[in-house]
This record gives sequence, C-alpha cells and structure tokens, in this order.
Amino acid sequence: MSAHHESEPKLYRYSRTVCGVFTQVLCALFSVFITVLSRPGSSLFSWHPFLMTLAFSFFMTEAILLFNPYSSPIKKLKHKTKGRLHWILQGLCVCCAAAGLAAIFYNKNLNDKPHFTSWHGLIGVLTVSVVGLQSLGGLPLLYPKLAKGWSLAKLKRYHAASGLLTYLLGSLSLFLGLCSAWFTSSVSGYVWYLAVLCPVLCALVVMNQVTNAYMARKPMQY
Ligand code: HEM
Repeated sequence: MSAHHESEPKLYRYSRTVCGVFTQVLCALFSVFITVLSRPGSSLFSWHPFLMTLAFSFFMTEAILLFNPYSSPIKKLKHKTKGRLHWILQGLCVCCAAAGLAAIFYNKNLNDKPHFTSWHGLIGVLTVSVVGLQSLGGLPLLYPKLAKGWSLAKLKRYHAASGLLTYLLGSLSLFLGLCSAWFTSSVSGYVWYLAVLCPVLCALVVMNQVTNAYMARKPMQY
C-alpha cells in the first residue's frame, strides 16, 4: 500500500475495504442467483442470462476490483501481475458476452422473432460491441510496441475512462435485463429490488474506484 493510503484515517481505510469486499461477495451471489434462476442448459434461452451475468457481473467486475487498493485479494502483488490477471478475466468476459449474444440471437431466429426491438436488446448489442472494442484498445498496454509514439500514461487514462463507460453500459444492460418480462415474471416484490441493487451498487463502487485512481488526481501527480 502506498504512503498516500497509509496516511489515511484507519476508519476510512476499513470502511473502503469492507465496501469493496461486500461488492465482490454481492457480485458472486448475484451471479449464483441468476444461474439458479435461469438453469443453464435447460433451454437455449437459459444460456443468455447466465452467460451475460457471468461476463459482466462476475468477470468484468472482478477484473476491475482486483485493482482496488483496499479490498483486492491480490493487492500485495505487483501491478504487472494484476494487469495480467485483468486481461485474462476481460478475455473471459468477452468470450461469455459473445456466446450469450449468440445464444439469444439464435434463439430469436429459431422462434422467428425480430431482433433488437427492446431498449435492453439495443443497449445490450451496443455493450457487447463496446466491450470488444475496449478489449482491443487495451492491447497497446499489453504490447507497448503497438502504442507507436503515444504516451503509455495517457493511454492508461483513456483505457480507464472508456473502461468505466463500458462497465456502466454493462450495468445498464443488466438492469434492463432485470426489467424484462422473463425476469419480472420469475421474481417479484422485494427480491426484484434486491436483484436490481446489485448492478446499481457495483456500478457506484467501480465508478468511485476508477475516478479516485485516475481522474481525481491533480495533473502535477502524473
Ligand atoms: C450485460 C448483460 C446483457 C447484455 C449485453 C444483453 C444483451 C441482449 C441482447 C443484445 C438482446 C437482443 C438479442 C436480439 O434481439 O437478437 C437481449 C435479449 C434478451 N435478454 Fe439480455 N443481455 C444481458 C443480460 C440479460 C439478463 C441478466 C437477462 C435476464 C435477467 C436478460 C434477458 C433477456 C431477454 C428476456 C431477452 C429477450 C427480449 C428482448 O429482446 O428484450 N439479459 N439481451
């Protein structure tokens, strides 16, 4: 942990750690909940909510939270190691998102239903495209030779800012998925509100982490 963090009041550090750990547990529980509800393999459709939740609520959230200076389970490891784990988790996120999109697309074709007719479908397809582009955008950070004259510090900032937007799009797609007829007919009342709390809370925690790490710094600190 940096000297900057050590100078912070203990209570402040503990509350940030508790908040981060709680978010990680919440994401895992949310993913298990959607898995139980959708029963992957029971139908072609069932793969869609399962794979999308795994991609965005689990892999992408973990890929970002592993950089959390307070609650990351690997906070003591080198930044390079975290970076490696980050791209592996993001790679898994892209694979699951592409497979989840293919499942719902093919399912709609089989049922002769029109594509991308709901806000969820439209924002969802945009999210999957953006997450693909965001991953390609991360390649110069992995292979600095590709950066060709760009400053790596600048690229990292752009990657973090666009990554945050991508994450918020993912959270919005998850939220809209929870508003779908399939989900609202499966759960009701306070369970629905509890489920919605997961993408909302995670989005807030991730937003806080990324803005603190990259955007809230004074320019002289770069
Ligand atoms: C970030 C996560 C998600 C993304 C990117 C996403 C993406 C999409 C896309 C692109 C479609 C339209 C496919 C087409 O029209 O061919 C769709 C449909 C659908 N999704 Fe998702 N989805 C996500 C999560 C979820 C979740 C968690 C649920 C359920 C809880 C869900 C339930 C549905 C349903 C019921 C449909 C069919 C109705 C409709 O087109 O709105 N999705 N999704």
